[in-house]
Amino acid sequence: MRKLLFSPLVFVLGWACQSSADVSFDEGKVLFSDYCSKCHGDDAKGGGQAAAHLKTEPADLTRIAARRDGIWPMLEVMSIIDGYTKSTNPREDMPVVSELSEGPMVEFDTGNGLVTPIPARLIALARYLESVQSPKPKRYVP
Ligand code: HEC
Repeated sequence: MRKLLFSPLVFVLGWACQSSADVSFDEGKVLFSDYCSKCHGDDAKGGGQAAAHLKTEPADLTRIAARRDGIWPMLEVMSIIDGYTKSTNPREDMPVVSELSEGPMVEFDTGNGLVTPIPARLIALARYLESVQSPKPKRYVP
């Protein structure tokens, strides 16, 4: 996509919709400490300082794949974070952070032939969580 950026139209599209390779991993880490660590802990294992006041214990986010037979479900994780699955899969005490859906969008290949725009912040955060999985995921699904 980069070499097409000289065309003005592609330039505009390119600006609005960067490739997912441009999503910064560090941004995910910063977003996590800004929005998530108070409940899920700095190490993502669940013991944040706000955790004690909740009815439901915040999940250990280093074991998302372990809880799913070693599968890393990228879209499911993003849906949990943006609240999309809230109606079908109630998660008590897990807030929806609307700021994560703001900002630039990037193309995400959903694996079924569709490329869909997804907020870059959501992808950055999910990629960060992917990197802290313990043990590492055995398989990846979009
Ligand atoms: C106010 C506390 C709180 C905050 C802030 C919070 N969470 Fe949670 N989160 C929870 C609780 C409690 C659960 C467990 C809920 C359940 O399973 O019903 C949970 C569950 C999850 C799960 C599901 C794990 C699984 O294996 O299914 C994910 C993913 C998650 N949180 C990610 C995040 C991210 C990313 C952020 C920051 C944007 C965040 N959470 C912010 C309380 C919080």
